[in-house]
Amino acid sequence: MITQSITANPIFEFATDVRAGLTKAGQKELPSKYLYDEVGSALFEVISCLPEYGLTRADERLLSRHCREIVELLPAPVAVAELGSGSGKKTRWVLEALCRRQRTSYYPIEISHAALAMCERQLGDIDSVSILGFEREYLDGLLEVAAQRRPGQHLLVLFLGSTIGNFDRHAGLNFLREMRQTLLPGDSLLLGTDLEKPRTQLIAAYDDELGVTAAFNLNLLSRINRELDADFDLKQFQHLAQVNEEARSIEMHLLSRCRQVVNISTAELLVEFDEGETIWTESSHKYSAEDVFRLAQDSGFCCRAQWIDSEWPFAESLLVAE
Ligand code: AVJ
Repeated sequence: MITQSITANPIFEFATDVRAGLTKAGQKELPSKYLYDEVGSALFEVISCLPEYGLTRADERLLSRHCREIVELLPAPVAVAELGSGSGKKTRWVLEALCRRQRTSYYPIEISHAALAMCERQLGDIDSVSILGFEREYLDGLLEVAAQRRPGQHLLVLFLGSTIGNFDRHAGLNFLREMRQTLLPGDSLLLGTDLEKPRTQLIAAYDDELGVTAAFNLNLLSRINRELDADFDLKQFQHLAQVNEEARSIEMHLLSRCRQVVNISTAELLVEFDEGETIWTESSHKYSAEDVFRLAQDSGFCCRAQWIDSEWPFAESLLVAE
């Protein structure tokens, strides 16, 4: 796989974002995209295998069971762009079904170099596929892909795994609207969304018994230690998963166990934490099936088909650009 990367100075950008998030008045926060360095991506793969975390298995069940139906609903020829390909494991079914029809270009778009490499290993052996990866932010990558489009070729965008849940609802809608701007009528978006479920099930999924999610969350602090020459004492922070009823989301935080000061050299920053103060690191919004129809409509798409898993509430929706 060929990979194109442009990020000018990733450490500088990381330091700038960390500084902005940790000096914010009120709730301190860190952007969730930084959870996915090599260690974080590997830990997320483990989370996907945990009995409490059914999300990825539900996504995979739906894609493996319905890949033929999905492909039959798509126009031909079609090129595939995937936002946040991760390991690429769940993409295999749809890609194989498409490649049986005709030769297919696949463009994974990922900010994680490690994940892009994993994705190549996972999917490179499929017959009749050509892979070109972009190490970019989602919408920048999508613009690049759209620029490669040949006349008459349609695009299928894969946005799986409920990554959209990391945006708050308003930002999610805006994101789909911006995505729609780079697409043409008749292009499709296959969107995976985790659906609302009982509170106890949610808490268990984001605060697993083995502590893998805790490690995934805390790794953000060790990443800051490694990359920004900081001195976070990980023992003085605790993983916290809490339901936000109003936002219909589950939030991950890192709670400071004591009053402490942390030095982040590369960001030229000293941060004070009160005992019990938290850094908000991620939100995972949950949707209803009808929410997705409305979201589609409000962003210039039409929901053509929807599949819902019977074991773990999760929806795969095929949206067509109008
Ligand atoms: C990869 C964003 C879908 O929100 O469920 C898993 C990330 N965070 N456990 C999610 C995650 C904690 C995951 N997504």
